[in-house]
Amino acid sequence: MANRWINQLTDRDVTDEAIYLNRRQIIGGAAAGLGLAGLGQGAMAQEGLTPNDYEDITQYNNYYEFGTDKGDPAKYADALTTAPWTVSIEGMVDKPGDYAFEDIMKAMTVEERIYRLRCVEAWSMVVPWNGFELADLLNMAGVQSGAKYVAFETAYRPEEMPGLRFPVLDWPYVEGLRLDEAMHPLTIMATGIYGRDIPNQNGAPLRLVVPWKYGFKSIKSVVRITLTDKQPPTSWNKAGPREYGFYSNVNPEVSHPRWSQADERPIGGGLFARRQPTLMFNGYEEEVVGLYKGMDLTANF
Ligand code: MTE
Repeated sequence: MANRWINQLTDRDVTDEAIYLNRRQIIGGAAAGLGLAGLGQGAMAQEGLTPNDYEDITQYNNYYEFGTDKGDPAKYADALTTAPWTVSIEGMVDKPGDYAFEDIMKAMTVEERIYRLRCVEAWSMVVPWNGFELADLLNMAGVQSGAKYVAFETAYRPEEMPGLRFPVLDWPYVEGLRLDEAMHPLTIMATGIYGRDIPNQNGAPLRLVVPWKYGFKSIKSVVRITLTDKQPPTSWNKAGPREYGFYSNVNPEVSHPRWSQADERPIGGGLFARRQPTLMFNGYEEEVVGLYKGMDLTANF
């Protein structure tokens, strides 16, 4: 609520970059505190995390639509046209349709969330995202009873995405969550980093962030969200079902078939940065463990 006033600015009021940025990517501890008020100690401890440099976050990326080298997305993702942008919300919702990104932003409350990001490749960062809770977007569309999963799809633009020429994955990139995971207050759609609009290489104009899961679940540049009663296919699971499960919760005790997940390399610490232990659910155990009560996390990796 604290930031609603910002949405009342018209484009004519926007005189400089600072105001423009602030209008869409609200930052501030107060907002973050409010948003997390309902969560446990672990999330509040986010204030203790030191975010990576803007440089690290925007130059070391995985966005295979633009190439598989870590520097490729920063080099090539400028070609992605992010305005106008619409997100189609489909399936088991009361108000299906194409939602303009600008209209979504007017309706949502953007706040800062400082989250750990743990890639399945065993490196990690801390990112100060700006975004809104996915639950708010889904509630806007009206989730129908009977919906059990949420499917997501990235833009498919062969003219703008040079990586699509290579069959690394079965394009477009798709992901999915169980509905309760999607509605969890930690799950956000990120639209900014450090108070600026999210750069293309990080998934402009909006990308999913699920901080307790391996980074590949956090699908970029989302164009379609489908509510369904069936577990949706996911890109990495299709590419390697033995290596990448549907859940993909960060779990130091369940190794990837080709490497251990017990520790991770923090990006930005220099060549000799010490590896650090990987935390259960990436440090968000207290908040999310209830989602998986009674589930065998080794079988459901
Ligand atoms: N989304 C799409 N569409 N394409 C991708 O290749 N890579 C995933 C995820 N989302 C990816 C994607 C992986 S493996 C990770 S670790 C994160 O994005 C990386 O996010 P970052 O580049 O913002 O750090």
